Amino acid sequence: MMERMAIGILTSGGDCPGLNAVIRAAVLKGQITDGTEFVGFRGGWRGVVEGDTMPLGRKEVMGISKQGGTILGTSRTNPFEEGGGPDRVAEVMADAGVDALIAIGGEGTLAAAKRLTDAGVRIVGVPKTVDNDLSATDYTFGFDTAVQIATEAMDRLRTTGESHQRCMVAEVMGRHVGWIALHSGMASGAHAILIPERKTSMDEISAWVMSAHNRGRAPLIVVAEGFKLDTMDDAHSERGLDAFGRPRLGGIGDMLAPELEARTGIETRATTLGHIQRGGTPSAYDRVLATRYGLAAVDAVRDQRWGRMVALRGTQIVHVPFEDALGRLKTVPQSRYDEAAILFG
Ligand code: F6P
Repeated sequence: MMERMAIGILTSGGDCPGLNAVIRAAVLKGQITDGTEFVGFRGGWRGVVEGDTMPLGRKEVMGISKQGGTILGTSRTNPFEEGGGPDRVAEVMADAGVDALIAIGGEGTLAAAKRLTDAGVRIVGVPKTVDNDLSATDYTFGFDTAVQIATEAMDRLRTTGESHQRCMVAEVMGRHVGWIALHSGMASGAHAILIPERKTSMDEISAWVMSAHNRGRAPLIVVAEGFKLDTMDDAHSERGLDAFGRPRLGGIGDMLAPELEARTGIETRATTLGHIQRGGTPSAYDRVLATRYGLAAVDAVRDQRWGRMVALRGTQIVHVPFEDALGRLKTVPQSRYDEAAILFG
């Protein structure tokens, strides 16, 4: 067990519902159990590199677990760029009186955290991503909420689709993996689910649309933003690059809709759900998972488990090395796709 310490917290990368619940749980646990102090770094790694801090006590975290977003703000800043690096991070932590960091983020955040930890910075990670694509954890918080939002949207698309006898295409998030598409598509009874893991032809999609239409249904097609037709090498992108130089995705639904309409003769509309899936109140499941992660992260700091992140295995919260979460995405297994595909068309 360490001496009583001060812990810095940052949220980094794309936001998602549940971040505030992690922050609240960590602060409350530290304060209640041994008076540990907390410092918030604003705007992800940017705040750590620039020394942009805010107080983080019981007052600041009061009632926030139900709030979407993050009270700390976030960014996709790389801590090794723009004057950063381990020496700078250590200097800022010392100035802020912080002994260790809890970094809440996805793959990019955890990769940076690993490099910093390898250089001697004391960091514990908390996994976060709506995409649910991080290995070494069964679920990330934010995913359940995103699936719920997408499912509600599809229920609505179905009633308007049925009124007009249209084919409705719903595009959801999922850069490399189709978890949101698979779960929301299954929940809403979609007639096809198109995911990045499984290239598909226009012929196959059109056949599913026609089959549903011929039974008198208004076809609903769910497509993940990272889906590729069998004729495409890369995911559809028309919005330039993000801060990490990755193509900004979105628009595959709009691309598929006129093509489907031309092939099937069925009037077709596309809706892109976009950031609506990442906003607003977290589901009860995500609040509980995020709270458990926050509590466990404080234990991990006290046990000096640097370079490890908290993770969910079954119903247990465990600690795993950063490298277990990195380098390999948690993709939708073929068996899960095949299971869902029985009901397509
Ligand atoms: O990584 C989560 C995610 O929501 C992806 O599904 C999506 O491609 C990306 O973030 C969008 O990022 P931004 O918020 O920077 O537009």
